[in-house]
Amino acid sequence: MSADRNVEPSPEERARQIAYWNQAAKTKDFTTNLRIDEFSKYVSKRDFVVDVGCGYGRILAELHRLGYARLVGFDPAEAMIHRGKVEHPYLDLRLMNGEVLDLPNRCADAILLMGVLTCIASDTVQDRLLNEIFRILKSGGILYVSDFLLNRDERNLIRYEKYKDLYGIRGVFALPEGALLRHHSEERIQNLLDRFEQKEYHRLTFNTMNGHTSNGFFYIGIKKEA
Ligand SMILES: C[S@@+](CC[C@H](N)C(=O)[O-])C[C@H]1O[C@@H](n2cnc3c(N)ncnc32)[C@H](O)[C@@H]1O
Repeated sequence: MSADRNVEPSPEERARQIAYWNQAAKTKDFTTNLRIDEFSKYVSKRDFVVDVGCGYGRILAELHRLGYARLVGFDPAEAMIHRGKVEHPYLDLRLMNGEVLDLPNRCADAILLMGVLTCIASDTVQDRLLNEIFRILKSGGILYVSDFLLNRDERNLIRYEKYKDLYGIRGVFALPEGALLRHHSEERIQNLLDRFEQKEYHRLTFNTMNGHTSNGFFYIGIKKEA
């Protein structure tokens, strides 16, 4: 990717990132919790819930355990889908291609997007994923997002500074093992979600998949159509 936040990652960069997530399916356990107390205020057990970037299906498995029955997950990493099918054979987990969610317009009552924006460095690609989410969500449907915010500790400040010019965005950084990750300004998150009516926004401290802590948030919004 060049130093322009609107430029697409090259096909090679995209393939490198998917390869990273395929590898992560064998070595990582994800840690951020769904705030079920808040989610269940807005989403009933009869609702159709789509988990975008579902990984190995751990959140859908939790919802299933709680009695939610109409669940589908999408992830672009084949090894995540494979692990999910082995660990939770009753779940409907599907491979996604690019940002395409192979579902009809306005079919979902609720969509989860947990720890996925952090995998997408480019504004353009994030915007495209949000467009697709908007397309499949019913009017009045719920979007639940949780993700990482910018931090102020030295380790993070150094890596934000190191990669700022290369990627054109403060908060993007590469891990030694190859993952390109992003921590977000609150302004970016507001901008990305501005078509939804915000119901909840809470700052949190997350434990990361690499054993650190990070600023984060969870958000619940409703799709409003003019
Ligand atoms: C940190 S994991 C979180 C997985 C899951 N949401 C959870 O909380 O357990 C991020 C997931 O996003 C997926 N991902 C990466 N790029 C994506 C994209 N452009 N669209 C959707 N998912 C993506 C990865 O394959 C990975 O499974």
